[in-house]
Amino acid sequence: MTNIMDKLTALCKRRGFIYPSSEIYGGINACWDYGPMGVRLKTNIKAHWFRTMTRMRDDVVPLDAAILMHPRVWEASGHITEFTDPLIDCKQCKARFRADDVDFDFKDPNTPCPRCGNRGTFTEPRMFNLMFKTFMGPVEDEASVVYLRPETAQGIYVNFDNVRISSRLKLPFGIAQIGKAFRNEITPGNFIFRTREFEQMEMQFFVKPDEDQKWFDYWKEERMKWYLSIGLTPERLRWHEHGPNELAHYAKAAFDIQYEFGFGSDPWHELEGVHNRTDFDLKRHQEFAGKKLEYFDEASRERYLPYIIETSAGCDRTLLVTLIDGYREEEIKGEKRVFLGFHPSIAPITAAIFPLVKKDGMPDIAKKITADLRPHYDVFYDAGGSIGRRYARQDEVGTPFCITVDGQTLEDQTVTIRHRNTLEQERCSTDRLRERLGDLIATYGSA
Ligand code: GAP
Repeated sequence: MTNIMDKLTALCKRRGFIYPSSEIYGGINACWDYGPMGVRLKTNIKAHWFRTMTRMRDDVVPLDAAILMHPRVWEASGHITEFTDPLIDCKQCKARFRADDVDFDFKDPNTPCPRCGNRGTFTEPRMFNLMFKTFMGPVEDEASVVYLRPETAQGIYVNFDNVRISSRLKLPFGIAQIGKAFRNEITPGNFIFRTREFEQMEMQFFVKPDEDQKWFDYWKEERMKWYLSIGLTPERLRWHEHGPNELAHYAKAAFDIQYEFGFGSDPWHELEGVHNRTDFDLKRHQEFAGKKLEYFDEASRERYLPYIIETSAGCDRTLLVTLIDGYREEEIKGEKRVFLGFHPSIAPITAAIFPLVKKDGMPDIAKKITADLRPHYDVFYDAGGSIGRRYARQDEVGTPFCITVDGQTLEDQTVTIRHRNTLEQERCSTDRLRERLGDLIATYGSA
């Protein structure tokens, strides 16, 4: 399992999913660039989340708030005082560790440093704030400090009234947002699992305070269903409830959806958090901004601060999970086959279209099929190399269906559809292709 991350890192670079950032300069630690396949996959994951969380509902609306926010936001949210990790350093080799994340007793003078092996060399833990700071405007002084947001959530809270009033919303309702967040992580790593720049897909659902438990349970269920809808293996997903020592400063209750990533002494790690944030955030912004954020409930004639149920997913982490979960190696007639078993709803390419050979008009027919399908599916035309190599390339980028124009097409206008997972082939007439692909996607995984 450990070397699956190495295999995926190599495959992602080779096939244009993810490259080390600034690679020609030797790279920059824990920063990654998404290539053509990575962007397609990420776009599809975000689109699927957006569709489920807002488009298909009438009680959740979208927002896109700025990354740079008023610095008081982070005082109100508690990030300036609470968003810290305890750090210890080895005085000999200067290696740095998170004191709450090490599996050795750094206070014991006999404990060796895992990096240099010297004993009893650790400093006392020091608190380190994870927010990236920069300056707004030409003067670099304390008064011009701004932060890169460490979560997208605050952009939603400070716009609670704007969105509610402009969209004439009544409780309960939600605001959903996809966007970049930045954290100066001490121990980034495991490919794109923990990075310093990442994307979140967050939804904040505003409810009547005494209805918080009902909505918390509801959103837990909805979020687990969403991961199953993108085809993840159910046995590799589970819930983890935060104990009192794990709860974030804003949360009354928190459950993580964990995935069995496979690395580390405990292979299960957080994929998404579902939090009951109570009225903590609105209360703090009301206090720090000096602006009333209460809601008037016409039905009960009460005025109160809504409670917030948050679903907070990492987009890059979800993408990593789709890679790990989908990665398959098998041997067929002595030949190794590697493929990514993406669900068709998120696969970077839904169908690749090939002419068997570059003659007898086959390329023209294949190009026409590609053009006809393009408005409806992510398609890709490829005429380069042997048919076996073309299949292998599509397997490695997780294309569920390959359509081949061959000699028989010239006689009866049918093509083959090759199924990635089973390698089965079926014939389909060219004028029914769009419909057939639709059926295959709709019934995927139900056989
Ligand atoms: N607004 C709440 C919040 O931000 P979180 O548990 O700190 O909660 C939510 O983050 C999700 O964001 C995580 O479950 C993870 O998927 C993703 N995430 C957090 N830090 C990350 C990092 N450094 N790199 C990649 N993804 C990260």
